[in-house]
Amino acid sequence: MDIEKEEEKILRGEKGEAERVALELLIKIGELNKAKKLIKIKSSHVSGVSYKTIGEHGLSFLRDFADRGARACIKTTLNPAGVEIGRGRKAISFPCSFADKQREILKAYKKMGIELTCTCTPYLANNLPKFNEHLAWAESSAVIYANSVIGAKSNRESAITALASSLIGKIPLYGLHLSENREPKLKIVLKTELKNQSDYSALAYYISKNFTEIPFFVNIKPNKDELKAMSAALGIGSINMFHVKGITPEAKEYENKKMEVVEIGKEELKKAYEELNTCEESDFLCTGCPHASMDEIKKVCKLANKKKKKKIYIFTSKKVKQKAKSMIKIPENVKIIAGTCMVVAPLREAGIESMATNSAKCAFYSLNLSKIDVKFASMREIISS
Ligand code: F3S
Repeated sequence: MDIEKEEEKILRGEKGEAERVALELLIKIGELNKAKKLIKIKSSHVSGVSYKTIGEHGLSFLRDFADRGARACIKTTLNPAGVEIGRGRKAISFPCSFADKQREILKAYKKMGIELTCTCTPYLANNLPKFNEHLAWAESSAVIYANSVIGAKSNRESAITALASSLIGKIPLYGLHLSENREPKLKIVLKTELKNQSDYSALAYYISKNFTEIPFFVNIKPNKDELKAMSAALGIGSINMFHVKGITPEAKEYENKKMEVVEIGKEELKKAYEELNTCEESDFLCTGCPHASMDEIKKVCKLANKKKKKKIYIFTSKKVKQKAKSMIKIPENVKIIAGTCMVVAPLREAGIESMATNSAKCAFYSLNLSKIDVKFASMREIISS
């Protein structure tokens, strides 16, 4: 790999131990992926935040790294934590000890100069990239959204490579940073109507479980929230970008390209729903995977007004929550929780054994990671059932 003069200085330790270690890691990753050089990035988005997912070892690494002088040199935002920022464990009854550990993790990230956005939708919370900008983002749903909807360029970074990139402001040039690797290989033709956000989520879940190539959707017209839901569900597998005709900025280049055609009908969608449903109903109704937008909050509040006895939890970023509270009359049965999510929060420890959600990603990880039973359906169906 070509190493620039500035990078040589970092490798000699002239800018401190943390930067040296970070650059060495990025160079190793670059060499493994046959990158020719490092390129500048506009922002990093770091995952590995909830104490539930990183545990004691993760916390001690972050504390140590911050103490050794690790400091972000570019805009760096953070994925959701395990409890709501500021309100600690009040919104849902989480154990005190967990909340204390979570606060320590956030303290270490803050010391490194990372913005405590605690959201998986950084593009809705002050980190909106532009077309063609290079990024080092670690949250799969955000990576896929940035590549597919915005036309920015990011590989799916790990928590550690995103953190290292935030210190160096660069990333090795390989994978989706190169135009030739962004070409779709599968033409997806819908033979059934998609009626709501959970249908789009189920479609992307089906693709993620059955294919590994970049898909090109030709006859769907998802709105921004449906694209967000697709980005999340697609991230369950190994695909890091998709094209939608008329939406993805680069899609035009491939409209006439010959590709393998895959038809998706009612049966495939039904299979996706069946795989993600293990219970008929639940008292824990939630949405916001990925973190809810203003439009989603408005829609849920409208539905919730008609079913006042049902308590609904909406997970979102602190920024969107503040905006929602100032602009929408939130019904009493709606609880908006900021900075955490139903997958990275210790829901089982809070006594929650089942949930109803409109997100395939949330359903998949709740079933497989948190061992929580799930009803996966549209928000309307969940609230009206
Ligand atoms: Fe975001 Fe949590 Fe879903 S991080 S994409 S809300 S699993």
